Order: sequence, then C-alpha cells, then structure tokens
Amino acid sequence: MRIISKVRELKEYLKEQNKIVGLVPTMGALHDGHLSLIKNAKKECELVVVSIFVNPTQFLKGEDLDKYPSRDKADKKICELSGVDVIFLPQADEIYGDDEVKVLAPNIRGFTLEGASRPGHFNGVLTVVNKLFNIVNPDFAYFGKKDAQQLNLISLMVEQFFMNVVIVPVDTVRESDGLALSSRNIYLCADQRIDALKISSSLYEASKMVSRGDVQVDDIKRKMSKVLEPLEISYVEILSRDFKATKRVEIGNSIVLVEVLVGTTRLLDNIWL
Ligand code: PAJ
Repeated sequence: MRIISKVRELKEYLKEQNKIVGLVPTMGALHDGHLSLIKNAKKECELVVVSIFVNPTQFLKGEDLDKYPSRDKADKKICELSGVDVIFLPQADEIYGDDEVKVLAPNIRGFTLEGASRPGHFNGVLTVVNKLFNIVNPDFAYFGKKDAQQLNLISLMVEQFFMNVVIVPVDTVRESDGLALSSRNIYLCADQRIDALKISSSLYEASKMVSRGDVQVDDIKRKMSKVLEPLEISYVEILSRDFKATKRVEIGNSIVLVEVLVGTTRLLDNIWL
C-alpha cells in the first residue's frame, strides 16, 4: 500500500497504472461504515484509493474542525488490512490556495435539512469532492447512504457538470443496537449513547407505520417526534428520493431523515423506504 500526500505524485502514479480506479473519500477516523465502502470498491475496481482529508471548508465557524477525531495510525492499518492500494493523505495547503474558485450547492436542495442547520456546509463538500475527482479521476466513487443529502448533491453535481464518474451508494452500517456508525459517536458519553438510540427507533417506527399502510407524512413525522423526545430535533423529514417534498410515503421512492442534537453532538440518520 502506498501513502501519497502530493497531488502530482498521485496523478502520475495513477496514470502509470492505467487501471479501473475506485475512490472512497473520507475524513479519517475510519470505522466499519467506511470499511463497507472500501469492500464495495475492492469488489468492483482494480485499484482502490482512499482519501483521508479533514476538509476545512465544510466546517462552519464554531464547529468541531479542531477536535475532529484523528487516528492516522489506526486508519493506515485498517486500509492496509482491507487491501487498499493507495491512501491519499494531503495537507490542507496541497488542496487549497488563496482566493479559490468554489462549487456552490443548489439553492433549494443544498440549503434545506442539514444545509439549513449548517449553511454553506455543502459548498465545502462539493468543492472538495470535485477536487478529489479531478485529482484521482476515478471510474467509481463510493458514498454512504447515511449522508443521504450529501450523496444526493454529489450525484447532482456529477450529472449537472457532466462528470465521468459513477457514484455508488452504499447501505448504512449500524451497531447491533441500531445506532448508525459515525466518527462523531465517540463524543457521546454513556447516557447520551443510550439517548442516541431514539434516532434509529424513530426510523424503525416510521417503517412500521408504513408497513401497516399508514403512509401520511404528517402522521409519521408526528409519531417520530414523540419517539425522539426529549432530544433537540434539527429536523424530521420525509422526502422523495430526489429530495422533493411529498405528502405520502411512496414505497421505493421515499427517504425518512432525522437530525438531532445529543448534548452538543449533531447526529443524523435515515432510512430508504
Ligand atoms: P466521512 O464522514 O468520513 O464519511 C466518509 C464516507 O463514509 C461518506 O460517504 C459517508 O456517507 C460514509 N459513511 C459514514 N458513516 C457510515 C455508515 N455508518 N455506513 C455507511 N457509510 C458511512 O462524508 C464525509 O466524510 C465528507 O463529507 C467527504 C465526503 C469525505 C468530503 O469531505
């Protein structure tokens, strides 16, 4: 496994290899969710690149950029054991200069839900993912359904900028008790960890209601909000899979999304119905 920190070196290496390349973009502190992305990439590609870069432009002022978990040594081991070919591990000044061109998230879909809680966040995500695509030029790129809005916006960018990469969505990996894996779970103390289980419980409740034929969005959202009490809810929303408003769940074309604050930790989750 190679660890490369320079853009030019990575571009030259990949050009020499001339293989089907899969890219797994991450911010490190790798867990089984990331591993699932890597495994999918290994199955479909001849060469797998994992990028580890805590992207400063997607953090708003006052967010956890400075304390975002960093576990370089463990991350390298995980990548090595899972057969990753290249880790791209750049410093911020390798990726960003002064007075930069940026990608802007769309006005509606980029500024609702997580985009409303964190205005500008998705501009940073799209800008860095655009850069990573241009650096690696992957055939396939792997993203988790857990960050459904991020996945949707990246897919939109690829479509609307006519980019030559196939976006592969990967199912959410959960703990056995239902909590979706997240690098931010380590911020939770024992009591908060228990409170956080209300998130997946509310999503299971939504799927139970739908399987009983109760598909009215307002009814489901009301019930979910009850299950989530007393957590501070940023949003509970049910949308079509292209992130448009809907009054009724349409099986095969709906996403139920939740974001709550557990203490000061923002946790999000969703299920695709
Ligand atoms: P990060 O939070 O490190 O996540 C990297 C990838 O792992 C994302 O595609 C995310 O959706 C996926 N992921 C996280 N938790 C998961 C889980 N429990 N199951 C399945 N997949 C999971 O998302 C980012 O980094 C950044 O915004 C990035 C895209 C790298 C741009 O900076």
